[in-house]
Amino acid sequence: MAAPLICPSILASDFARLGEEVRALETAGADWIHVDVMDGHFVPNLTMGPDIVKAIRPHSALPFDVHLMVAPVDPWLEAYRDAGADILTVHPESGPHLHRTLGRIRQLGAKAGVVLNPGTPLNVLEEVVDLVDLVLLMSVNPGFGGQSFIPSSLRKIERARALLDAAGSKAHLQVDGGVTAANAAACVAAGADALVAGSFVFKGGADAYAANIRALKAA
Ligand code: DX5
Ligand code: ZN
Repeated sequence: MAAPLICPSILASDFARLGEEVRALETAGADWIHVDVMDGHFVPNLTMGPDIVKAIRPHSALPFDVHLMVAPVDPWLEAYRDAGADILTVHPESGPHLHRTLGRIRQLGAKAGVVLNPGTPLNVLEEVVDLVDLVLLMSVNPGFGGQSFIPSSLRKIERARALLDAAGSKAHLQVDGGVTAANAAACVAAGADALVAGSFVFKGGADAYAANIRALKAA
């Protein structure tokens, strides 16, 4: 099995030193930078606006994977794309027209992703599978870092992998929430090829980032 892409969530970084943190992640072997955008409405937490994404963009050449937990999401797509997002992922609950939203993301020249919460049925994906470059399965309820991985997520990863393969889709299958070295191998065995990790990557400080990323990749 190929090593999964590791996408550290900068939600767990030191916000006073975001530029340095992003540089340190690149040096430590991260594949993508996962940016958690929360609006205090779709989820009960408030994080990074497009100006912050723009400010950190020059600090890394890695793809910026921007997870939009914002509703309504449509008015924000262009701003995050202009700020330097390479991938924009949206929740089906964040707007009335998921199909249109995904089309708009591709029209803006970004890769489009759909994110499914633990309680969101997988069959949403059937209707948009040709419009996505990435499927993100939440293994916690979104809003906060540091939560525990919901074990039933593994079965959902397997089902999503089967659905993507049956459709002939080459979309990435990414998992987000409570990912650690203890469950990364199970996620990959179930069919994930990209892992988001916040707390796990950042524990131990900058000197530990590379070892933490290696531990996830070893899955
Ligand atoms: C949750 C976010 C996740 C989260 C990951 O709403 O989407 O990206 O911050 O953090 P950990 O790995 O700490 O669960
Ligand atoms: Zn996320």
